[in-house]
Amino acid sequence: MKKKTAVITGASDGIGSSLAKLLVNYGWEVIGISRNTKKLNSLKNELTKSNGIFKPFPCDVQDFTKLKSIEKKINVPDLLFLNAGIYTPVDASKKNLEHYKNHININYLGVINAYEVFLPKMLDVNQGHILIMSSISGWIGLPKAAAYGPSKAALRSFAQSIRYDLNAKGITVQVCSPGFVETSATSINDFYMPGLLKVDKAAQLIYKNIHTKKFEFSFPFGFSTFMRILSILPDKLSSYLINKIN
Ligand SMILES: NC(=O)c1ccc[n+]([C@@H]2O[C@H](COP(=O)([O-])OP(=O)(O)OC[C@H]3O[C@@H](n4cnc5c(N)ncnc54)[C@H](OP(=O)(O)O)[C@@H]3O)[C@@H](O)[C@H]2O)c1
Repeated sequence: MKKKTAVITGASDGIGSSLAKLLVNYGWEVIGISRNTKKLNSLKNELTKSNGIFKPFPCDVQDFTKLKSIEKKINVPDLLFLNAGIYTPVDASKKNLEHYKNHININYLGVINAYEVFLPKMLDVNQGHILIMSSISGWIGLPKAAAYGPSKAALRSFAQSIRYDLNAKGITVQVCSPGFVETSATSINDFYMPGLLKVDKAAQLIYKNIHTKKFEFSFPFGFSTFMRILSILPDKLSSYLINKIN
């Protein structure tokens, strides 16, 4: 049987790397895109030992031309996991222009670049699955998330919108909005992270959820339910509660 192909951006570390391992172990061929060549190659070596196929493509998601050259070398993706992202907490009373721009350029426009590059061949075959990595930070403005949150809110809105055109052409669109997952990204947080999940558990939950018909999925259940409720409360109440917890 032909192996399924997954393209994962942000495959060198954290959630992307963990999902890459899981998919390879389930017999998928994984195309891994991110900047760190050393980390990508070490993942390739690890997975080759167990006869898995992991093809590393060092590339910054901001580099549209390089992404295009990768697309020419690979099979049509069955799964396109648009996951690459950065996270920097900011104090909004300070100067943060570079952080604001970087988050939009990498987290949002990086996803758009990869989407535009890999979508046409998926449309040619009228099938495929696009999974966009957002965050619960995209649901409501949170303290210190003025750079990160808007990029994730934009991704969620993008996913909500594209599904109408893409579903009609046989392509599934999903958005993943996790709470806290233990990775290098969250290791810089100096506050208590409720429901912090191990990265391999997060990868398992993503794998489980891509086999459901849910448009958006989130985890862990308790914290994401709390955040969901918070996000639909009147602003006066939600901002009061966030201030209390902060
Ligand atoms: N951890 C959490 O609690 C959490 C919660 C909700 C959502 N998320 C989202 O999940 C995704 C993965 O996060 P993570 O926690 O696994 O973070 P991570 O461990 O820091 O991994 C981030 C991945 O993105 C890649 N990346 C960053 N900038 C890139 C760029 N310009 N071009 C290509 N690749 C780039 C990194 O690789 P290189 O450095 O090699 O490029 C790395 O592979 C992010 O979108 C994040 O916002 C995470």
